[in-house]
Amino acid sequence: MTDIEKLLSSCLFEIDNAINTKKLDDIKIAVLGKNGKLTERLKSLRNMPEDQRKIVGAEINAIKSEILKRIEAKALTLEILELEKKLSSEFIDVSMPARIRPSGCIHPLTKVTEEVANILSEYGFVFTEGPEIETEYYNFTALNIPDHHPARTMHDTFYVSYPTNNEGRRLLRTHTSPVQVRSMLVNNTPPFRYFSIGRVYRSDYDATHTPMFNQIEGLMVGKDISFSHLKYMMTDFLKKFFGVPKLELRLRPSFFPFTEPSTEIDINYEIKGGRILFGSGDKWMEVAGGGIVHPNVLKSGNVDPDQYQGFAFGFGLERLTSLKYGVSDLRKYFESDERWRNAFGFSYVTK
Ligand code: PHE
Repeated sequence: MTDIEKLLSSCLFEIDNAINTKKLDDIKIAVLGKNGKLTERLKSLRNMPEDQRKIVGAEINAIKSEILKRIEAKALTLEILELEKKLSSEFIDVSMPARIRPSGCIHPLTKVTEEVANILSEYGFVFTEGPEIETEYYNFTALNIPDHHPARTMHDTFYVSYPTNNEGRRLLRTHTSPVQVRSMLVNNTPPFRYFSIGRVYRSDYDATHTPMFNQIEGLMVGKDISFSHLKYMMTDFLKKFFGVPKLELRLRPSFFPFTEPSTEIDINYEIKGGRILFGSGDKWMEVAGGGIVHPNVLKSGNVDPDQYQGFAFGFGLERLTSLKYGVSDLRKYFESDERWRNAFGFSYVTK
């Protein structure tokens, strides 16, 4: 074997055994690079006599092209192999079952808050808010509940040990009615229609009472807003809320210091097939309280009771929710129990 033949065979051997494209590149440089073995030989042709140079030159060029061909073929094989390896390591099995992610849902109270807000907005009621940490003044005095009035103790109030001011002690509001006064103080030019939905607190705990719950408050004041407006609006609101075409209201005389006259509002229902149906039957269910706003409350809101009058009403948000969606234990609303939430919650995807 000539020297050049030896070079060719060892070179081909190395090419065949190259394990990756990087190795193949190294071989190419070592043989055909600027200082490569074959390049050196081509350079040495310069010193050869003319006739010999032709023969040897042709031989080297033939070898060069053979090596190049073999490198190209090997490169192709290696590239395919490397691609296959990469693809198989990145393999995605699209037929695999998806990983289950826990999904959230809309809390029933959130759902009903939206429903109620939507209906009240249709009547032109504007949403207003008040603080949950109230003062004795707004929670009681401004609502015609004077000092030492039994209603103050009836409410089982949580007092807050926080510096007092001239509005009396601070407390966690026991109802949303203080928002009536606060809203009037912001805009006391009738006619106006305000509503509020928010947390209230009373020291009580059993299946039908939780120390924190939510109320819906409504207030409508104008020149001639009367009891019949209250009755009409309540009937219409409850028909829309429960989605029934007809509904009867029973207004029972009651007492609230901030309304006079005051009423408890009942709606008719019956139990059919284990389900409660509103708007039919002759049983009565209490759903709200309301009445004609007491002149002293209008005064607290800087509204002249000789010129204006109106009605106010209050619902329990949890009670409305329970009646519509069948939740029996009030405490469940606030326990963050995932199983309960999945059973009573609502999907984010609207149908
Ligand atoms: N604030 C009353 C309560 O908590 C409900 C109510 C609101 C009654 C407005 C009349 C008018 O029981």
